[in-house]
Amino acid sequence: MWDAEVLLAHYLERHVVLKPSDRVLELGAGTALAAILCRKRSCRVVVQETRFAISHTAECLKMNLCEDVGLIAANWAEQEEFVPVLQEFFGRGESDFVLMADVFYHPEDFPTLLSLVNRSLIRGGSLVLCFEQRRRRLNELMEELSHSFGSGQVVKYEIPSDQSYKESIENHDIDDKTCLYLLHLTNKL
Ligand SMILES: C[S@@+](CC[C@H](N)C(=O)[O-])C[C@H]1O[C@@H](n2cnc3c(N)ncnc32)[C@H](O)[C@@H]1O
Repeated sequence: MWDAEVLLAHYLERHVVLKPSDRVLELGAGTALAAILCRKRSCRVVVQETRFAISHTAECLKMNLCEDVGLIAANWAEQEEFVPVLQEFFGRGESDFVLMADVFYHPEDFPTLLSLVNRSLIRGGSLVLCFEQRRRRLNELMEELSHSFGSGQVVKYEIPSDQSYKESIENHDIDDKTCLYLLHLTNKL
């Protein structure tokens, strides 16, 4: 499990009021800690992982008594694979929350990932993402995010140490830093 997943779950637990009616989709879930937290809050939850990794995710859900979470075994380009699972678990093809932790690895994947987010999130829904900078160039991604989620903000977030996460999405100057960022954005499209 990556630090970003822990921070994402921690943030959701401490700072987000999750309602049982909320529909939560976690992309690139891995061990799915954030999804498990949401299910424990009685949300309706679906997770996505690759076909290669989905059995590990399913095992983590099972160990945490969350076997009633929906599973999507697909990559982000296979967006039609999401539709039947989201409809089965959410009653529609969209969610109130999309969660992502540490999924920004390959820049060529970013447009596909963003189109999936836009497609999967209701207007006014929340995208909560956490990532480690790792010296990647994320400026284009940040610009795309601010286009779709201009009404959102980067939430100041402090873990129990002297680190804080208070950069604004307007500040595209984070490339050379190595630290965790948590963004809680509202879909305006
Ligand atoms: C670094 S892991 C993060 C896992 C978990 N969210 C965490 O932070 O512990 C990135 C995850 O994204 C998934 N992933 C990467 N590229 C993907 C793609 N193109 N389509 C679907 N999933 C992908 C991987 O299978 C992997 O589990």
